[in-house]
Amino acid sequence: MYTAHEVLIRPDDPALCERITDALASDGWIVLPRAVSAEATAALAAEIRQQFAAGEFHRAGVGKSGQLQVVNEVRGDHVNWLEPDSAAPLQRTWLDWLQQLGSKLNRNLFLGLQEFEGHAAIYPPGSFYKKHLDQFRGTSERSITTILYLNQDWQQQDGGQLRLYLDDDCHEYCDIQPEAGTLVVFLAARFYHEVLTAQRERIALTGWFKRRALS
Ligand code: OGA
Ligand code: MN
Repeated sequence: MYTAHEVLIRPDDPALCERITDALASDGWIVLPRAVSAEATAALAAEIRQQFAAGEFHRAGVGKSGQLQVVNEVRGDHVNWLEPDSAAPLQRTWLDWLQQLGSKLNRNLFLGLQEFEGHAAIYPPGSFYKKHLDQFRGTSERSITTILYLNQDWQQQDGGQLRLYLDDDCHEYCDIQPEAGTLVVFLAARFYHEVLTAQRERIALTGWFKRRALS
């Protein structure tokens, strides 16, 4: 087993935060292959698989908290929420880096981000997540989506691509391979997206920077 001291999860490119800030201001989205080293993503995946085997995951729901429902036709992933006080060591270091990113985004883009929520997600073979927006209708809480993929040697035929729709009519899209180390960041209110059916187990760390709830 790795410990946080052996493998520090620190995205390799020191200018990563600036690249993300610039991209969010111009296009509203960015895909960064190899943002995190192969060693670190392998260690993160091992940590997450161990938690899954220990029964720490549950089926992901659909809808606002309080009204969550498991709907197989919409999404088939299992999730484990990251709690800052009790997150496993490697995931904790990922949360720490995201916190730095959040401060930079606030400083440079004046987004008023106040909180972060995130989870590890495991899609078993055959599962998907249908087209959706991460911002629930009528709320502006989830402001920015971040996804780090942890799947080594992902092949085209493994499916499981993130299909990010680039226009409001969802005619134009970009398919993103969930390859280990790829980091995707986008404005949560703007981009519909879906996870195509994965043919093998697919692991990601997904999270949202949030503005404070209005009610
Ligand atoms: C989500 C989501 C995309 C992915 O969890 O809301 O859209 O590629 N995930 O895992
Ligand atoms: Mn989503």
